Amino acid sequence: MSGRFVAGMTVDDALGACERVNRESIAVTLDALGESVTTEAEARESARVYHEMLDAIAARKLNANVSLKLTQMGMDFDPALAESIVGELVEHAAAVGSFVRIDMEGSPLTEATIGMTERLHARQNGHVGTVLQAYLFRTANDAERLLRQGIRIRLCKGAYKEPPEIAYPMKVDVDTNYVNLAERLMTSGVYCGIATHDEAIVEKLLVFVREHNVPKGAFEFQMLYGIRRDLQRRLAKQGFGVRVYVPFGPEWYPYFMRRLAERPANVLFLMKNFLKN
Ligand code: FDA
Repeated sequence: MSGRFVAGMTVDDALGACERVNRESIAVTLDALGESVTTEAEARESARVYHEMLDAIAARKLNANVSLKLTQMGMDFDPALAESIVGELVEHAAAVGSFVRIDMEGSPLTEATIGMTERLHARQNGHVGTVLQAYLFRTANDAERLLRQGIRIRLCKGAYKEPPEIAYPMKVDVDTNYVNLAERLMTSGVYCGIATHDEAIVEKLLVFVREHNVPKGAFEFQMLYGIRRDLQRRLAKQGFGVRVYVPFGPEWYPYFMRRLAERPANVLFLMKNFLKN
């Protein structure tokens, strides 16, 4: 079942998946899965895999960049180490004409993630960006703050359990906030990633794009590997930028559990396959 959402165990598996996705005129962001490492050696090993990926993307001329999590680079126990490791990765990305997306984790890390992105962007303009989550009340302000500096934002709904004091508990409010934020980003002049599989939202945004003459080059849709491939292909065929987030590696478990939690149908599918075996 994890094979539906995770592209394999090795860098080679991920590059193979990337080539297949690229053949359909869809770009990729590669994620070597891992989070919450507890030693410097583990953090440096995570970074080594990312350096290898940046070189391989350039050598194979793939249409891909990379996404990483700060807790994978030591953020939980040594933020300065994490910043130095990610800084080196952003420098490497700049040298090979690529881009590092810093994924957004749970709310205790929101401010620190934004702050680090700002500092790294000041050094390597255009080669680093981060993610904002529509379920957080603070996101509209964060979006303005990043846009003022020209920092690229990926907008998602948010995948972590957050308290009602800081996040919308109701899906309908998250969805409304998502659409408002997406419209703001798409007309901001800063290239943005619209990360959702929510077809109703995608349709609404396509109407907005038509009515406001938003150029196709102003944004890209982003979706996860293995989810709504039909929608990914349809949007790419219509000439919209589409990027698929391709996760891989032995540390697939927390990522996989978040995907199951998002959709009860996935758990049913898993149970049926389990019973069949
Ligand atoms: P929603 O959950 O409302 O689902 C809408 C529809 O999409 C569903 O009805 C179903 O058809 C389909 N769908 C959604 N999830 C599915 C699943 N797991 N399996 C099958 N179908 C599914 N989050 C975060 O907190 N930090 C981050 O950095 C990122 N990064 C990120 C990158 C990219 C490219 C994407 C697409 C998403 C993220 N996310 C994320 C995850 C995001 O916050 C969110 O949890 C998921 O995208 C699910 O929300 P949707 O917008 O798809 O809508």
